[in-house]
Amino acid sequence: METCFILSLWVFSQLGAVLGDSVRSNEPEVSGSEGDTVTLSCSYETSYTAGVYLYWYRKYPNRAPQYILLRGAKGIRTSDTAGFAKKRFSSQATDSSTVLNITTLELADTAVYLCALRLAQ
Ligand SMILES: *[C@@H]1O[C@H](CO)[C@@H](O)[C@H](O)[C@H]1NC(C)=O
Repeated sequence: METCFILSLWVFSQLGAVLGDSVRSNEPEVSGSEGDTVTLSCSYETSYTAGVYLYWYRKYPNRAPQYILLRGAKGIRTSDTAGFAKKRFSSQATDSSTVLNITTLELADTAVYLCALRLAQ
């Protein structure tokens, strides 16, 4: 028996104000079934060269965003993953994009996923 549900991905925001920076999701909505692996991705542009952090959060209705993980890019090697996410969530960040992979999808993964950029300054 297969259960279908939708994972939604939206861009959350960009923290760190440099004119011309942008972050956007590469697909507004990703769907999967229980047990699947899905990949969400965001692209970003910034003229800032001294390091950035790419964050992923998820949000359930009427709840504050829940932090999932962060990865450094543009020379920053920092990475961190929330305890609950260590088994099934992985990410990599490049100088222009970040992906979030979720394995063994669960119904409870249905949420709005948010990517955000923070300049390392
Ligand atoms: C995410 O999934 C894609 C597609 O399966 C794969 O190419 C990539 O290596 C994965 N990245 C991580 C960090 O798991």
